[in-house]
Amino acid sequence: MQLAGITIKSPFVAAPLAGVSSPPFRLLAARAGAGLVYTEMVSALALLRRQPQTVRMARVLPEERPVALQLFGQDPEDMARAARLVAAMPVDLVDVNMGCPARKVRRQGAGSALLDEPARAAEMLAAVVENCPQPVTVKLRLGYQRDTLEEVLPGLIAAGAKAVCLHARTVVQGFGGQADWSAIARLKSWCPVPVIGNGDVRSARDALAMLETTGCDAVMIGRAAMGDPWIFSRANDLLAGRAPAGVSLAMRRAALWEHAELARQLNGEGGAVHFLRQFMMWYAKGLPGATEFRRSAGPVRELGELLRLAGEFFDRLEQAA
Ligand SMILES: Cc1cc2nc3c(=O)[nH]c(=O)nc-3n(C[C@H](O)[C@H](O)[C@H](O)COP(=O)(O)O)c2cc1C
Repeated sequence: MQLAGITIKSPFVAAPLAGVSSPPFRLLAARAGAGLVYTEMVSALALLRRQPQTVRMARVLPEERPVALQLFGQDPEDMARAARLVAAMPVDLVDVNMGCPARKVRRQGAGSALLDEPARAAEMLAAVVENCPQPVTVKLRLGYQRDTLEEVLPGLIAAGAKAVCLHARTVVQGFGGQADWSAIARLKSWCPVPVIGNGDVRSARDALAMLETTGCDAVMIGRAAMGDPWIFSRANDLLAGRAPAGVSLAMRRAALWEHAELARQLNGEGGAVHFLRQFMMWYAKGLPGATEFRRSAGPVRELGELLRLAGEFFDRLEQAA
């Protein structure tokens, strides 16, 4: 299917997740069948300053494509200059973050603060559109404390947004309460560009339900994909009318190992340990003995030792199976 001018193989896409959607996460999601994967939000200013951590965030592997790079910032000139850098990168879409509710981002006038100022939001979007050849999309929330999409979005579309991703919560809701899927259906009824629905998809069945009940063009999955990249293959199975394939212990073990190896290659040993402790727990989620595994891995600072503990954990489960 086509989305915002690019071809994607599935309408289920992996969300931008700060601190999570690094290349290993994206690669595993893409392999499992995500139609599109997003980098975490990348600061335009930090990219211009070539801050090493930000440059690492913007790194993309050829095998994970199609990939969207998400930019955030508060100054149209910075966004324009950052877009010129991104223009030369191997990314398929450039997404502009207008939904981040974090106080430190809003205080700068970035993320969801742009929803309060439709004219500045449109100026920011135009700055990106005019300075990179890739299609530009926007990810936003409903509004600060009510649905103001009809005030904000027409300007963004006129400025060149090729698709919109709606996390169907207000800014004040943060991550609380329930995402309002009826708002996605409402948006779809008038929005002239494709709509990607997002919020509270907790299972493959939810993903299909969002697609069917809201009429959105694609569904973005965030938290439910942490440690479960196979949610994309299950959603694709359901969409195709197939029984969803199960996730075996061997699949979890292999994913954990691959995630570790890629993280080590990309971030070095220290960075890998930091990310991996978090990820190991996600891959172990729901399995017997996961709590004790978490406890024993907590103080470990060395990748080899973490992998040894993970190996023992999976060995025990395989023997018991
Ligand atoms: C840990 C975490 C980090 C996030 N980072 C980003 C981000 O960098 N950019 C963004 O647009 N949204 C970010 N989000 C929001 C998600 O992309 C998504 O909109 C939200 O989690 C709702 O989807 P879900 O219910 O499927 O998780 C983040 C959410 C979480 C939980």
